[in-house]
Amino acid sequence: MPLGNFQSGNRKLGSAFGSENTWKELPYEDFQWFLQEVKKKFNLDLTGYKPQRVKRRIEILIRKWGKKSYKEYLDLIVRDEKAQKEFLDRLTINVTEFFRNPEKWWELRDKYLPVLLKESGPRFKAWSAGCSSGEEPYSIAILLEELRAPSTAKVQATDIDINILAKARKGEYDEKSLVNVPKNYLQKYFDYRNGLYYVKPNVKARVNFKRHNLLQDPFDKGFDLILCRNVVIYFEMKTKEELYRKFAESLRPGGIIFVGSTERIFNYRQIGLEVVSPFFYRKVK
Ligand SMILES: C[S@@+](CC[C@H](N)C(=O)[O-])C[C@H]1O[C@@H](n2cnc3c(N)ncnc32)[C@H](O)[C@@H]1O
Repeated sequence: MPLGNFQSGNRKLGSAFGSENTWKELPYEDFQWFLQEVKKKFNLDLTGYKPQRVKRRIEILIRKWGKKSYKEYLDLIVRDEKAQKEFLDRLTINVTEFFRNPEKWWELRDKYLPVLLKESGPRFKAWSAGCSSGEEPYSIAILLEELRAPSTAKVQATDIDINILAKARKGEYDEKSLVNVPKNYLQKYFDYRNGLYYVKPNVKARVNFKRHNLLQDPFDKGFDLILCRNVVIYFEMKTKEELYRKFAESLRPGGIIFVGSTERIFNYRQIGLEVVSPFFYRKVK
């Protein structure tokens, strides 16, 4: 059901509930109880995410399945694999594409990546945090190939969602994900078979995927480049600030963080970053 169709309060909902034709927002305490259960049962900690947004999304699902309470819905997602997958998918939106906001990627390729590679040489390492189905980390790997980086220059790609990581590892994409990929890159870095594009082994070999929850797991250190794009939009301001502080600690001095095109790091000075250009921040040396 499209999000736009959700109605909160006591508005009419048609016949989804038989004789009961109104939908009331469920109590906040039940939502908080549900979050604790989800944490215990699925190891998914949703505190830190914008609560109204999460509550709204879950209640759309509760209604869709004809359930009347968080308890009934929890019972469903514990025993029904399909409902469980849908729940996890809905809360961690995976939309992505290769070279999302392409002009920023060309800026990275032409201005910053050559400098970072020169400074770090074979030890270069990037982190794509919240990498979804792999388009973002493979985009960096393609640029590394393009700039003839040593084969030891690697990309760590992480996401909370193990299903999406399985898809990412396959490296298999349809045209939709590839709209921003220049024609010559398509030829050089993809194999085309039966309507699908497969990331070539030399690009794949640069990327290492693993599950990582940004809100729970420790961060590695010493990155030359961190991409965290279109992920923190789901988080509350306090969580976001804390996250950017940890990203800054994970960069080596002179390293760069690349954020999404609707995102800003407001507290950049306090956490030791400087603005390079919109959407790029550098750790002060
Ligand atoms: C909209 S996608 C962004 C993909 C890519 N970075 C881009 O900009 O195209 C957001 C990704 O963040 C992941 N995510 C959400 N919460 C997360 C968390 N706590 N830890 C790690 N990844 C998370 C989701 O699973 C999803 O794949």
